[in-house]
Amino acid sequence: MSIILAIESSCDETSAAVCRDGVILSNIIANQTIHEQYGGVVPELASRAHIQHIIPVVDAALQKAAMQLNDIDAIAFTQAPGLIGSLLVGSSFAKSLSLALNKPLIAVHHMQAHVLANLIDDPKPSFPFLCLTVSGGHTQIVRCDSPLQLTVMGETLDDAAGEAFDKSAKLLGLPYPGGPLIDKYAQQGNPLTFKFAEPNIPDLNFSFSGLKTSILYFLQKEIKNDIHFIENNLNDLCASIQHTIIQILLKKLVKAVSQTHIEQICIAGGVSANSGLRKAIQALGTTGHCKVYIPKFEYCTDNAAMIAITGYYKYMAGEFVGLDISPSARAAW
Ligand code: KG4
Ligand code: ZN
Repeated sequence: MSIILAIESSCDETSAAVCRDGVILSNIIANQTIHEQYGGVVPELASRAHIQHIIPVVDAALQKAAMQLNDIDAIAFTQAPGLIGSLLVGSSFAKSLSLALNKPLIAVHHMQAHVLANLIDDPKPSFPFLCLTVSGGHTQIVRCDSPLQLTVMGETLDDAAGEAFDKSAKLLGLPYPGGPLIDKYAQQGNPLTFKFAEPNIPDLNFSFSGLKTSILYFLQKEIKNDIHFIENNLNDLCASIQHTIIQILLKKLVKAVSQTHIEQICIAGGVSANSGLRKAIQALGTTGHCKVYIPKFEYCTDNAAMIAITGYYKYMAGEFVGLDISPSARAAW
């Protein structure tokens, strides 16, 4: 039997989870609202909020799982990638706990954990599967041959899909994070009203910075003729922007399916909460002969349950680290 306590603190969510033999018993997430007024995550404020949240969040996760610190067999934590100050809080806490309890320490790659969130609940994909990971910091297509054998097949060369949503929303005057708001307004709009440039990037890589520029120039031009252009067309603008982002993502995913002949598709990351993307991916399941898996919403955005499940597979493989491990803002696979 294995009981893992997991800690996630890579960006602006402080989260702790407990899992027993790969079954999630608790997953507590504390969000940080302080960043809203700044239009994006302020790293130093995020680190300070993590320090305030981490003990109550870990306590709540243990309590919900009806576990005590002595019951734990190992401590897993997000080691990379992320904001370095935020990672330092979680990793220092995990290392201290490991030293105090004399329990092994497991370092987890945040992006691997997003992919393995698909292994938390049933029905689970079998191996190999493809995962489109779309978050505020990353956009990747990953081939997963086993829980610990993952290959990045393509990724963004500039902005992430979540950034494309958030930056477009900012251009429309919407508050941060704008992704969920674009989703909301898009539901009342026509996705084919406005056309924005799609990038021409080879292989399975992505680019979103050109889209942002194309929206900026388009809005500047239209506002010259009609000062109220954005408010008069908000729903259609949101629907058209969302449609363009989804098309960019889907084209590459379909290309990855045809290149690999792997017809099991998963999605992960905060943008997988987008209702248009979920519908489009589900449609691939019915029209494209693919089998589609989408994790529960709480396992899509940043959470410690995904760190716990990854920690579980690493525990089974005996992949532990020493107390000299350091967090890292960037990380290769
Ligand atoms: O995975 P996540 O919670 O944190 C990171 O690791 O980045 O992803 C956050 C991103 C933000 O850019 C947010 O705007 C986007 O996910 N997001 C959405 C939606 N919900 C969250 N984007 C579009 N539609 C949504 N419904
Ligand atoms: Zn994430």
